[in-house]
Amino acid sequence: MSVAVDTLSAEAVDRHVRGRFGKPCLYEPECESTQLLLLGSELPEGAVAVTDHQTGGRGRLGRRWEEPAGTSLLLSVVLHPPPERHLPELTLVGALAAAEAVEGATELTAQVKWPNDVMLNRRKVAGVLADLRDSTVVLGIGINVNQTRDQLPLGGPTEPGSLRTITGRTHDRAALAGSLLFRLERIYDGWRHGGLVDLYPEVGARDFLRGRRITVDGEPATALQILRDGRLELETDAGVRRVIESGDVRHER
Ligand code: BTN
Repeated sequence: MSVAVDTLSAEAVDRHVRGRFGKPCLYEPECESTQLLLLGSELPEGAVAVTDHQTGGRGRLGRRWEEPAGTSLLLSVVLHPPPERHLPELTLVGALAAAEAVEGATELTAQVKWPNDVMLNRRKVAGVLADLRDSTVVLGIGINVNQTRDQLPLGGPTEPGSLRTITGRTHDRAALAGSLLFRLERIYDGWRHGGLVDLYPEVGARDFLRGRRITVDGEPATALQILRDGRLELETDAGVRRVIESGDVRHER
């Protein structure tokens, strides 16, 4: 009897690749970070690196991104965006694609927590990291897929969840990779063509922070909305309206 092995090998992911994103697909059973497999390479747009385990997975603001081997979707994509586009918007492009892929797998509504998190049932299930070098962006996406509750990291600013802890069942990571790459390609092409403004209806509808109590770099505030240019509008408790492009934003649980 053959037993299906859940792996993100290039062959497994290839079976689910439907467009130009995912070609070529580089697979390492283990690596420090999929970002590092692509940074500085001269690969074409849409080239992807996947792994079953990162020993030095990187999150935003210098944080670590940790997972037990074989539980997560860990993927990075090479992008060559046109110079007229505003590159910080790519984090939202990745988050929107990840939210759609999570929705496709779970049939639940996923939200985007500005600037780079995907939330399901008020828990963070995915994060996006964009690294820029020489006009090439390496967009990294990590989705918590099959971790059990006790395998999720403790002590982060946002309570984590996995698709498994939320839906009560395991999910096929290679199929999820194919779905993510297909959606990312469509959303990225829309962004290349028209910028974030064209994607705003989908982003705005999934705005997790809208109306929530937050702190921004420690200062208490209320989040108002993600703006059409990708920045976050908020009002501080001192009554000052601010628009921010980056920062450590935490919400009340
Ligand atoms: C965050 O939420 O802070 C961003 C997390 C990004 C994690 C992904 S996993 C694939 C890629 N490789 C990394 O080292 N980081 C990104």
